[in-house]
Amino acid sequence: MRSVDLIQKKRDGGELTASELTYLIDGYCRGDIPDYQMSAWAMAVFFQGMTAEETAALTLAMAASGDQVDLGPISGIKVDKHSTGGVGDKTTLILAPLVAAAGVPVAKMSGRGLGHTGGTIDKLESIAGFRTELTRERFIAQVNELGAAVIGQSGNLAPADKKLYALRDVTGTVESIPLIASSVMSKKIAAGADAIVLDVKTGSGAFMKTVAHSEELAKAMVDIGTEVGRHTAAVISDMDQPLGYAIGNSLEVIEAIATLKGEGPEDLTELCLALGAHMVVLGGKAPSIEAARELLRGLIEDGTALAKLRAFIAAQGGDPAIVDDPSTLPQAPLRIEVTATEGGYVHAIEAEQLGIAAMLLGAGRATKEAEIDYSVGVMLTKKTGERVDAGEVLAVLHAREQDRKTAEVVERVRNAYAIQAERPAARPLLLSVVTADGITRYAE
Ligand code: URA
Repeated sequence: MRSVDLIQKKRDGGELTASELTYLIDGYCRGDIPDYQMSAWAMAVFFQGMTAEETAALTLAMAASGDQVDLGPISGIKVDKHSTGGVGDKTTLILAPLVAAAGVPVAKMSGRGLGHTGGTIDKLESIAGFRTELTRERFIAQVNELGAAVIGQSGNLAPADKKLYALRDVTGTVESIPLIASSVMSKKIAAGADAIVLDVKTGSGAFMKTVAHSEELAKAMVDIGTEVGRHTAAVISDMDQPLGYAIGNSLEVIEAIATLKGEGPEDLTELCLALGAHMVVLGGKAPSIEAARELLRGLIEDGTALAKLRAFIAAQGGDPAIVDDPSTLPQAPLRIEVTATEGGYVHAIEAEQLGIAAMLLGAGRATKEAEIDYSVGVMLTKKTGERVDAGEVLAVLHAREQDRKTAEVVERVRNAYAIQAERPAARPLLLSVVTADGITRYAE
């Protein structure tokens, strides 16, 4: 086999076989196939696309390129969840205890934040003593005993994807649906769960700008899951603003606790119930999405989900007392108000800009090695659709210092708000669900 023949075959619209794709991925990982050939192939895929069978074969080849987690010793149907990226997305902090309380084992590997996106592991580590590195034995035992464990992602999970994604990033080949779908699913499949629930974001702040494109990506991922025997469902949700009000590590933990108490923001609560319901159905603990939602609501109302959060924090070395007194989490010394310069209605809040703002305050990393400050971040006071008067507070920065950089962050947050005179049309948060049975639109 020669790489150049495979590049030409794809360039001319041909379909590569599983062994041809494995040849490319394995050769690229070993360093036998150079970047220039792999980027030519990625560009050919960008223009020609891939069939569902090719996409599944590519995914399996990438999943097999590194560690493949065996969750076999955990009893029950293990359901994983993945979001295609969101600012203020603390859903894992809520869903791990909530879904575990419903009897579905959650054995989750999560990442750290980089750039404007936060990471679940950083959020959990804002709880003093919380350990995100557990031995395999401890991880499995905790899920069997308690129903949930969350650890940092192994550095060797789908290394082919890591290498290919870095190449795509600099060769204009990120925005290819089969390449994104195989990238996401290779990591999920290597992580070992039996079923996968995907939160696919849509809108100006997301990878996919339209619902149609998001549904296409969701369908590609669901098809891969189905093809390789992992039940997969995807919820398409709008991202014209950050999720909830809190952006920043300990601020997001506080908001997650409030949500598990039934006192969380409406959008965050809605999304968690929607994703959680699919996890519960795929995990075999409810016969329908409606029944699963009711079950989850009940577990929030009667305190079972909160008790599970306490047990989960304690099991991983944190102090469960933070659940009852979140003020013991790291707190930034300063509060700096960001006010509106004009009145009107909030039409959109650029999530990426707020993610960058939180990062500049110290909540995120500009580089992989950077230290982070768990206490700082941005608390929104106004969300889309709300009326605001000139001089009213849009958001409050939780900052460590009042310096020139902080003043720039104030401007960045203010500019992230699109305020217009007329009231915006209401935008639903949940748009559609994609499963192996097809697409269902929420609004229909
Ligand atoms: N996220 C991923 O993990 N991979 C992509 O290709 C795009 C987004």
